[in-house]
Amino acid sequence: MKSISLLVPSSLLLLSSSLFVSSFVIQSHTSSILGLSATSPSTGSGSRSSTRMVEKIYIVTGSTDGIGQHTASNLINTPDAKLLVHGRNPAKVAQTVQQLKSVNTGNIDGVVADLASFQDIRRLAKDLEEKVEAASPDAPVVLINNAGVFETRRKESPEGLEMTFAINVAAPYLLTGLLLPILRRRKNSRIINISSISQGGSIPWDDLQLALPGAYTDHRAYSLSKLCMAMLSMEQSSRFGSAEFPIVCCDPGTVNTKMLEAGWGMYGVDVSAANDETFLALAPSLDNGSYFVGRMARKANAEAYDAKSRARLWQHLEEVTGFAY
Ligand SMILES: NC(=O)c1ccc[n+]([C@@H]2O[C@H](COP(=O)([O-])OP(=O)(O)OC[C@H]3O[C@@H](n4cnc5c(N)ncnc54)[C@H](OP(=O)(O)O)[C@@H]3O)[C@@H](O)[C@H]2O)c1
Repeated sequence: MKSISLLVPSSLLLLSSSLFVSSFVIQSHTSSILGLSATSPSTGSGSRSSTRMVEKIYIVTGSTDGIGQHTASNLINTPDAKLLVHGRNPAKVAQTVQQLKSVNTGNIDGVVADLASFQDIRRLAKDLEEKVEAASPDAPVVLINNAGVFETRRKESPEGLEMTFAINVAAPYLLTGLLLPILRRRKNSRIINISSISQGGSIPWDDLQLALPGAYTDHRAYSLSKLCMAMLSMEQSSRFGSAEFPIVCCDPGTVNTKMLEAGWGMYGVDVSAANDETFLALAPSLDNGSYFVGRMARKANAEAYDAKSRARLWQHLEEVTGFAY
């Protein structure tokens, strides 16, 4: 596990300028929809220092690209925030941190971990816990389990799980469980789990890893993983969530990212308009156990409300991760 150095070779600074354009735009947009007074981008770089009291800590997994990166660029513009940028690629984490710092000296740090690996997730949780404790003894933490993949071919994680399931389901199960004590200790923390309107399909209980001949297709694996994410989120909300510690789930919008391109083609909105995760992160309150599409509470797939199915999935996750909570 590496903390990210800010000494980034200029050759790595290739991040799209849209990140910054969008961060400026969202600043006023977010302010107006949520009544926040955001730091002006023109003065922000000199006016905020990491020695200021941290009031809110944001952890966004998979914030080196796509929706997560855009969400990170929004959240760092909120007052007195500490932002923890996460990715699997050290260079991309460093780039993102560097670029965000170049427009706003808000309190930003980077963490690196491959969510395909349980060992890496355990190190990530320790690293995050240290950084959260160092930032503030009691500021609430908003954990956004955003990282996700669409795999065109079946691959396996180091622990032998089908890769889509490993990253989209097992990783948020394990990371959330490891961080749960620190989140619950801090009043008004929240968890936002990223599912998708693609959630669905019948659940192959005897072959959740889609290993049987002919079982795997990329869309089946993705839809199953996002259904499992919705079920996982509902189970977490019923076990641990409350009005003061809401655990919610959402579809983040159909957004032109490399994932959408790989699975469906670029028919979504520009990433600069992907503000649904930000909306949920900043909403003054959220109903525990909600599922949002387009910022509106909606019904998730019926399996997400089926206590027996959820318990079965939970047991599978306990078994494959070796971690119960
Ligand atoms: N785009 C859409 O229309 C859409 C719709 C519904 C739901 N979603 C969900 O929204 C979330 C974000 O998707 P996106 O479209 O923004 O995808 P994206 O642009 O491909 O970004 C995914 C992020 O996850 C990271 N990531 C992937 N595998 C990882 C791993 N093994 N370890 C650590 N980080 C990893 C990526 O890192 P790299 O930068 O290294 O690739 C990247 O930062 C996903 O959960 C996705 O399922 C997206």
